[in-house]
Amino acid sequence: MRQAGRYLPEYRALRASAGGFLELCLTPRLAAEATLQPVRRFGLDGAILFSDILMLPMALGQPLSFSESEGPRLEPLQGSEPSAGLGSGRFHERLAPVYEAIERVKGSLGEECTLIGFAGAPWTVASYMIEGGTSRDFAAVKSFAFGAPEAFARLISLLVEATAAYLSRQVAAGAAALQLFDSWAGALGEAEFDEWCIEPTRRIVAALKASHPSVPIIGFPRGAGLGYKRFVERTGVDAVSLDPSVPLAWAARELQDRATLQGNLDPIHLVVGGESMRAAARRILASWGHGPFVFNLGHGVLQTTPPEHVAELVAEVRA
Ligand code: CP3
Repeated sequence: MRQAGRYLPEYRALRASAGGFLELCLTPRLAAEATLQPVRRFGLDGAILFSDILMLPMALGQPLSFSESEGPRLEPLQGSEPSAGLGSGRFHERLAPVYEAIERVKGSLGEECTLIGFAGAPWTVASYMIEGGTSRDFAAVKSFAFGAPEAFARLISLLVEATAAYLSRQVAAGAAALQLFDSWAGALGEAEFDEWCIEPTRRIVAALKASHPSVPIIGFPRGAGLGYKRFVERTGVDAVSLDPSVPLAWAARELQDRATLQGNLDPIHLVVGGESMRAAARRILASWGHGPFVFNLGHGVLQTTPPEHVAELVAEVRA
């Protein structure tokens, strides 16, 4: 969950040497190094590929840039058929640096560390494609999805197919597990959650299970609340990543007999550190540690996190 990033001095140095975030993602030697930095520093059991969910719209032909102050910018899709200008012609060619980064990481990662490939889930990726960046209220993407559901469904279908193809190539390159990030699933009402989060995820999982039945798939419909249960029952994911708002006892009772749980420490605990962080980690371990479980944060590591707190947390979980 954002293991690398601006909280690590060695990451900041690498990013500066690359010239920018996109250059870092698209230079296999550097992306591989960014993937390995947190593993080297903290001795983690899993490494998440260093890349970004917006590589996929970029590979479909949508211009992408990252600014230091504003985060990611895509030229927003427009018109009544937003998927019209997108093509899959040079898709894998544009993503070749990602596959090569995976091969390089695989070559230097020990047997005891699992390499996790990933992609954004269609709803979250579509929201960036239509909003053009991170949104506060999702007005543009929701207006489009509610007002022109058939055209929106065509965009989602295109993303389902592209995402399944992308993840399948990641496995071929050496990813041992996959995670689908639906960071904005919590913005959807019940019917829309079923249609734009659960159903596209189910289709991607089915496609990947047909070609790579033994590769575990982790779903992360962040903020789904009670919807996590339907998500686990219907999508076929092997594991579910839970955000910090999910009640521990509820998840143990309602989800853990169907899926491996992953999560859910609040990233602010990692910023604060000390006994309050360790106590929060112990509560999670006490509730979920008896069943299938991957200790993780409930969302990404924040930029203001002191790296020593991560080491402290790893020591607490190991103990
Ligand atoms: O080790 C890792 O960091 C894993 C690689 C990773 C990144 N992004 C690198 C990154 C992963 C798994 C992601 C996923 C991602 N990207 C998501 C889903 C997870 C989530 O956070 O909900 C989303 C929504 C994105 C889109 C994105 N990329 C945003 C909104 C931003 C700006 C964030 C910010 O804090 O400014 C990014 C940039 C980004 N992606 C950074 C990193 C390390 C910061 C890059 C930098 O400026 O150096």
